[in-house]
Amino acid sequence: MNASPLQPAQTQDAPVNTLYGGVTSRRVTVRDLAKAKRNGERWAMLTAYDALTAGVFDEAGIPVLLVGDSAGNCHLGYETTVPVTMDQMVMLSAAVVRGTQRALVVADLPFGSYQESPAQAMHNAARLMKEAGVHAVKLEGGERSARTIELLVEAGIPVMAHIGLTPQSVHAYGGYPVQGRGDEAAHQLLRDAKAVQQAGAFAVVLEAVPAELAAEVTTHSAIPTVGIGGGPGTDAQVLVWTDFAGMTAGRVPKFVKQYANLRATLAQAASEFAADVREGAFPGPEHSFQ
Ligand code: KIV
Repeated sequence: MNASPLQPAQTQDAPVNTLYGGVTSRRVTVRDLAKAKRNGERWAMLTAYDALTAGVFDEAGIPVLLVGDSAGNCHLGYETTVPVTMDQMVMLSAAVVRGTQRALVVADLPFGSYQESPAQAMHNAARLMKEAGVHAVKLEGGERSARTIELLVEAGIPVMAHIGLTPQSVHAYGGYPVQGRGDEAAHQLLRDAKAVQQAGAFAVVLEAVPAELAAEVTTHSAIPTVGIGGGPGTDAQVLVWTDFAGMTAGRVPKFVKQYANLRATLAQAASEFAADVREGAFPGPEHSFQ
């Protein structure tokens, strides 16, 4: 249920330690995340690309879901996030919003949908808000994206920034190298974090940076930092759901902890089904209409 805009500000804030369990009758908001930062409360974010999976994570109490453009390699079968289009992001994001009741849903602006001009960014962020119903957008880049973040925030769009390793630049990097190593790179990361905060971002993803540096950014940051490959010192942690659940084929990055082995479970179920059908063991009388 939406809080009335006339309610006093205090009643809209989540009480201490309630991102998990306490905020049950309404959506988590960016104000709740700001409060969590002030209270030192850590939180988890997972990616989701469809209504069914999003519903599971929502019920499990994950307060923030990201419709990442990682959908490109984790859901749509591309090698990188680069080919993902706005139309695909709108469709996947709308499904995630439909599948949830409580989580704050953040959607990525995909490669090429915001770098051209602030006007292009505004147009596409508005599509994600209006057509998919997401509650915030995410875009990559620190100092280089600060003006765009500022413009979206001025227009009333909550923006999550993403610095450190920015996967949309995979071809410029020539891979996915750890960022922020060495003095100059570390100073650039600190400048990027400051720039996105000053531009009005409500949170910032720190991807693939040394743990000590991510902790230092977090200490100096007034907005929540969300780590992925940034060690334990950030305010929140995000994982790509197919990695954390063991759905990904082959090797996963070093920073991933696998909490389940869904790929093996599904493969086993599929081969048992195929064998049952081959041998006439399925369907049995209990699965048949008399
Ligand atoms: O697209 C994505 O899933 C992301 C996360 C890795 C943060 O940007």
